Amino acid sequence: MQIDLRLKQKEHDYKVYINELERIELKGKVAIVTNPKVAGLHLKRLLDVLKCDDYFIVTVPDGEEYKNLTTVESILEQLFTSRLDRSSTLIAFGGGVISDMVGFVASIYQRGIKFINIPTTLLSQVDASVGGKTGVNNKFGKNLIGSFYQPEAVYCESKFLQTLAKREFSAGVAEAIKMAVTFDKEMFEWLENADLNDEKNLANLIYKAVGIKANVVMDDEKEKSVRAVLNYGHTFAHVIENQTNYKTYLHGEAVAIGINMANALALHLGLMSKEEVERVKRLLLKFDLPTSYKINDEELFCDAFFLDKKSENSKIKFILADGIGNAVIKDNISKSDVLKVLREFK
Ligand SMILES: NC(=O)c1ccc[n+]([C@@H]2O[C@H](COP(=O)([O-])OP(=O)(O)OC[C@H]3O[C@@H](n4cnc5c(N)ncnc54)[C@H](O)[C@@H]3O)[C@@H](O)[C@H]2O)c1
Ligand SMILES: [Zn+2]
Repeated sequence: MQIDLRLKQKEHDYKVYINELERIELKGKVAIVTNPKVAGLHLKRLLDVLKCDDYFIVTVPDGEEYKNLTTVESILEQLFTSRLDRSSTLIAFGGGVISDMVGFVASIYQRGIKFINIPTTLLSQVDASVGGKTGVNNKFGKNLIGSFYQPEAVYCESKFLQTLAKREFSAGVAEAIKMAVTFDKEMFEWLENADLNDEKNLANLIYKAVGIKANVVMDDEKEKSVRAVLNYGHTFAHVIENQTNYKTYLHGEAVAIGINMANALALHLGLMSKEEVERVKRLLLKFDLPTSYKINDEELFCDAFFLDKKSENSKIKFILADGIGNAVIKDNISKSDVLKVLREFK
């Protein structure tokens, strides 16, 4: 299966291949950036299909805490030492941490070289590897340094996911549920009945989610409008991740809770029915995702929204489902409405 992504402004097209990793042929030097875990599990499979003049492996430590400028600097150094030039290609081989970081390095190495994403987590296959948002974290927050820089191609292989921890898998499903609730009621209904242990269903899920993401990115690469909808659940999730020091929940798990909180707000504003809120919650629970978080101080929680970089002009932008399969962006919700809903989670 393939999905074409055509960016209007840039004359840059690329394909996302789903379960079609049979041969990658590249000219010039290639640097594969990965981490020890992914390399140990799957590097051989990649090397079996890679045809190029010369390649070398750059290994970075595993973990979100290494998604920073220090690691970027160490990757750059290895690229210079190996004399990569502007005809070379980087391959990001790993989860979203690797693809975000490698995309960023590709965008700044000698003012930009080609890169290919080969995502190995469900979250990176359905979300992070497509769309060209790249970047790293710093002490002021997550993803605050970065660029919009698109890959040459993306290869999503569901086989790589067989070694993924169950929690990591579910975290990826949460991002796919996000897309279904905001854009695609049919996909939502399909997910309610689908068994994702079945390879075909899993490939279908990746296809549907990437299709949605590709359409959104083609419309709005730089998040001036509709791309913001992909932040559904995230306004809440970022506060939860921050309050729990990024330790208690995986990102996708925090998003699952955030989705449920956003829906509580949508219910309060009359955008969703109680049945619909319950239906989304049931789908999250089907994949063992968490749906609640104990808010100790709703004022503090609410204030934290303003620290999120996505809140512009001190207005909080909430992405809410207007029924399952539709989304609206609201920036005029009163603080008292928000507090009322947050109190339900005390
Ligand atoms: N650019 C975007 O549009 C975008 C969108 C969503 C998320 N992100 C970013 O993605 C990151 C999260 O990505 P993630 O959830 O993939 O996390 P991750 O990259 O940290 O991967 C999670 C864990 O799974 C391991 N792993 C990877 N592939 C594996 C496999 N096949 N088998 C077993 N283990 C494997 C990794 O080594 C890691 O320990 C965050 O930094 C987030 O900001 C970016
Ligand atoms: Zn996310």
